[in-house]
Parts: sequence; C-alpha cells; structure tokens
Amino acid sequence: MKKPEDMILVIFGATGDLAYRKLIPALFALDCRNMLPEKFSILGVGRSDQDDNVFRSRMEEGINKFADKPESASTESLDRFITKLSYFRMDMKSAEDYLSLKNHLEDIKNRSENGRNILFYLAMPPAMFSVISDGLGESGLSRSEEGFRRLIIEKPFGSDLESGRELNRILHRSFEENQLYRIDHYLGKETVQNLLVMRFGNGVFEPLWNRNYVHHVEITSAESIGMEGRGDYYESSGALRDMLQNHLMQVVGLVAMEPPSSMEPDSIRNETMKVFQSLRPLSEEDVPRQVIRGQYISSEIGGKVIPGYREENEVDPSSRTETFVAMKFYIDNWRWGNVPFYVRTGKMLPTKVTEVVIHFHPTPHKLFKDNDTCNSCNQLIIRIQPDEGILLKIGMKEPGAGFNVRSVNMDFHYADLTDIHLPSAYERLLFDAMKGDSTLFSRADAVEAAWKFVAPVQKVWSSDPEQKIYGYPAGTWGPEIAHKLIEGSKTGWRFPCDNLTGNETYCEL
Ligand code: BG6
Repeated sequence: MKKPEDMILVIFGATGDLAYRKLIPALFALDCRNMLPEKFSILGVGRSDQDDNVFRSRMEEGINKFADKPESASTESLDRFITKLSYFRMDMKSAEDYLSLKNHLEDIKNRSENGRNILFYLAMPPAMFSVISDGLGESGLSRSEEGFRRLIIEKPFGSDLESGRELNRILHRSFEENQLYRIDHYLGKETVQNLLVMRFGNGVFEPLWNRNYVHHVEITSAESIGMEGRGDYYESSGALRDMLQNHLMQVVGLVAMEPPSSMEPDSIRNETMKVFQSLRPLSEEDVPRQVIRGQYISSEIGGKVIPGYREENEVDPSSRTETFVAMKFYIDNWRWGNVPFYVRTGKMLPTKVTEVVIHFHPTPHKLFKDNDTCNSCNQLIIRIQPDEGILLKIGMKEPGAGFNVRSVNMDFHYADLTDIHLPSAYERLLFDAMKGDSTLFSRADAVEAAWKFVAPVQKVWSSDPEQKIYGYPAGTWGPEIAHKLIEGSKTGWRFPCDNLTGNETYCEL
C-alpha cells in the first residue's frame, strides 16, 4: 500500500483523553503496519505547560494501555515512534500564539524537511472549533502554495440546523470544503464500509434491495452503559443529537443509497446526499406518532440497584433529556417508496449492539401453513458490532413428516477472517485523512441535511411541554410504546444479543 506523503500532524488538545486513548495509539498501530509517511512528526498542542519528555511519556502510557499493536511490535519500534512526538504550549484564543505556532512549524520543516504538508486535528470541545479555525486562517496557516493543509474535526457539528450551518460558514472562512475532514467514527467501522461491498460487490442482493422485496428496514444501535461521567455533556445532547442525527443517519445513507458511478469520494457522498434529500420531512403532527423518546429509570439488575438517568451525576433531577429514541420515517424515491425505515438507539439497554436488519416481504402465497411460526425468516442482518458479520435467516423444512418450516441461519463472522487485522475506526480515518481520501467523512451539505431532517423533532420536543418522554427501566429495550412503532409486521423489533446468532428473544442480563 502506498504511504501518505510526508507531513506534520498537529493535534490541538493533545493533553486530553482522545489523544491519549485513541489518536496516538491508533497512530502507533499504523506505524507498526508501516502505514505512516516516511517523514512524519506529531506536534501536540495544549494549554498546559509541559515539555516534550512529559508529553512523550504520557503518550507512551496511552499506547501501552490502548494500542492494538501487532505481536511483532518491539520496544525499539515504540521508542522510534515516540521520538516523532513533540509538544507546543499555546493559548488557542491568542492571535499572537498562532504566529508563534507558525514559526515553530517552520522550524520543524527546516529541521526535518517534512513540513510542506500539515494536517490539523482538533481534539477539542466543539466550542473551540470556530476559534481555532479562525486562528489558523488569520495567521495564514490554513492555506499554502507548497503543500496541503487539512483540518479534521469530530462531531458534534452544531446542535441544530442553524448552528450546524453557522459552523460550516465559519470553517469555510479559512478552509475550502475539500480541506475539511469531519469525522463520524461510524463511517470508520469496517462493517459499515462493508455495506458498500456487500451491496455493490455481489449480484445477488441488489435486485432485491428495493420496495418490491423489502418490507421494512430496521437499524438499532444499543448501548448497555449509562452516563459514565458524561452527564454534563449528555444533558445538552440527548440520544437524538448524540447518535441519531449523525451515526445512524450515515448508516441509513449507505443502506439506502443508489449505486455510485465510481468509488471516488464525491461519487459516494453525492449518493448518500441524495438519500438525505429524499427523506420525507416530518410534520409537527408526525412527531408524537413517529418518534418515541425515552429516559431510563432506576431498576434492579441481578440484585444490584441501577440509578435512573435523573440520579446520574451532573444531570438535572427533573431532566427531560432523552436517553432513548426510536423513529419511523420514509425515503421518498423510486427505490424506497413507502418502505418504512425504523431506527432506534439508547443508553442502558440490555446489551451493546449495532445492526441493520433488512426484512423481506413474506411469500405472496402461503403454501406451508406452519410458515406462520417462522416469524424471523426472510431477514438479512448486517451486524456492525460486536461479533461483526452477516446473517441470513431463512425458512427450512423441519426433518420428519409434514412440512413444518423452521427459521435457520446462514452466517458469516468477520472474526473467521483470522489472517486480517480489523483496523480501529481511528486508524482507518486518520490514514484516509493523511492520504486525502474524504469518502468516509461527512460533507457540509450532508451534515446540514441531517440537521434539517431532525429539526421538527427538536422543535416539538423543546417547545411543547405536553410531549411525552417515556420512562424505561434500565436494562430493558426502551419504553413499551416504542415496541408498537413497527406496524404491519409479525416480528416487531429484533432483540439482538452481543452474539450475532445467539438467543434473539431476550439477552441474559
Ligand atoms: C459517540 C457518542 O459518538 O458514540 C457516545 O457520543 C456513544 O455517547 C458512542 O457512546 C458510541 O460509539 P460506539 O463506537 O461505541 O458504538
């Protein structure tokens, strides 16, 4: 594989958790697989006063704890990698400090000849995105004649349509759209990317992938954890903004898109954008009927009392922030006309799992009367995590007299490809941004389209105090009423376990 061009990676917020747990370990994993540029330096930027050695030893600790390194990785390779790191202290609100940073980057370039290209990563709270983008623009760091300048940011990209647009406007003051890499880490997941290969690399699925054969599509992203110290952040976010507007909508885009004309980034991103443009807008009256919000309440699991959301640290005891959301919607185009899409996500559900379920129509004529018992036949399950894989559920004859039909599984588990390393989302996305491949990054128009789609929900929830928020005991699959959202199907939601082919009725807690 061709390596990316030589460059400096500048990480703003390098003393924070993201760099420690994810970014630097992912970079080391890339280094072990020989996927970093020949000449490469990492400059950590932060507010705290520390020298290169303190920064390096903290990052080394992060690598030792979190890097998915091959067995062959040696102490020497770690030592070599660590020397690529250095630290620069600055106040990110000071125009003067950006000029010092510019001079410092010039020095690195003169010393190591790899500074023609610069990739900036903002591992910072979103409130700082515009400040840093403007700082880079005004100091002349965002453009260069001699090499590339790119900027990586990670969600949230605003908190509603207006702030999402405003953020794009500010970013575009200093950077062109093709310099921007907006991370949605779901797009970095191998199995999300595999949706493209599965759909467009096999002749068998595509002819069935439309309203003539698909009854409905179900997408679930469940988490078994609660706030884990993030109550403050979550209070201003909630499941709709935290998961649905971004991660789940990106998955919808890949499931529903038309075949792209090529694998060029914009060819794919144009197709997902068309899906977003075809989403049937929800009216304010649709919201209570088609969108269910829930909040977990205290429960007892295995003799242990689990606190409810309102009892979590930094959460308002009368909070109306949703920790669960389930939504029904339509995509108004030829392929999907009148096929309902159902998505749901939540915290404190029975297990951690993300999957897409394509429910095919039942047979038009019932030859086998016991077919009625085969409620889960005719399903294709694309498991995004964990136990990544694909499962086709089909009806087969039970051995013996008569024609009793039983649901059986045809399954493929990614883990069976034992010779292949599944890169973490950050490995994949950092590598792509270094190479300048923006396929797996969200484009400005798509971010705005996704905000536009959820805007009526945000409006109704925030302006109408009568709108219900339903409680669900921690450790259950959300409010009862959400189970009724799926109509006209015998199956309802799938209740998946962490094991792709495991017991699907209810997970053991
Ligand atoms: C993040 C959300 O974007 O995604 C978190 O802010 C959530 O609340 C996380 O836990 C889920 O990601 P994953 O990869 O664990 O499914």
